[in-house]
Amino acid sequence: MTDVHLRCGPRVVVRTFRPEDAAPLARHGNSHAIWRNLRDRFPHPYTEESAATYIAGLLGTSRPTSFAIEVDGAAAGGVSVRPGEDIERVSAEIGYWLGEAYWGQGIMSAAVAAVSAPAFEWFGLTRLFALPFVRNGASARVLERAGYSRTALLRQSVIKEGQVLDAYLYERHRDTTVAAEDAVGRRP
Ligand SMILES: CC(C)(COP(=O)(O)OP(=O)(O)OC[C@H]1O[C@@H](n2cnc3c(N)ncnc32)[C@H](O)[C@@H]1OP(=O)(O)O)[C@@H](O)C(=O)NCCC(=O)NCCS
Repeated sequence: MTDVHLRCGPRVVVRTFRPEDAAPLARHGNSHAIWRNLRDRFPHPYTEESAATYIAGLLGTSRPTSFAIEVDGAAAGGVSVRPGEDIERVSAEIGYWLGEAYWGQGIMSAAVAAVSAPAFEWFGLTRLFALPFVRNGASARVLERAGYSRTALLRQSVIKEGQVLDAYLYERHRDTTVAAEDAVGRRP
């Protein structure tokens, strides 16, 4: 896989991380509002050092599974595609976050749609999935706009900040046809 550079609109690019992304990534990622909807392994507080270590780890691999979301010329979030192992290697979980300053502008809907289509080819996948908490309405909407379907309610499947929560399973398959309007509807 060569360098990734997917333009998602005049202001937004999904691309391979660079070492200089560490400072803006930490600035945008250091947020309880973001962390509360992600796995505990997402750093909190998110320091520049944690960002630099994360980026260095990615750049040291032959096949990065996580990409920067660049908005107005600087990294403002991330999107990852993590293939499973063994017999689950044809499935991958997609995960994503964006700095609060940019929420509600259609950026993540465009980014998830842009990454999902080529990710099947990049990683040899048949299925992409995501597990948003039920309370995370914005994430569910992002997935629906990017061609994913809700296929299950996973009751009491996760614990965050001591609270057991329900999550949804969203899936998109390699042969899914996404309406052009949904995939690239708004160009942030
Ligand atoms: C979830 C997140 C990625 C959304 O990014 P974004 O760029 O603001 O998303 P978009 O603007 O593309 O789309 C958000 C959609 O959700 C809708 N929405 C916002 N809040 C909502 C809510 N509480 N309930 C339902 N829908 C909501 C918006 O109206 C929009 O839909 P529309 O385009 O039909 O109007 C961002 O809020 C984030 O990073 N959150 C923290 C991390 C996270 O939750 N990651 C996903 C884990 S599964």
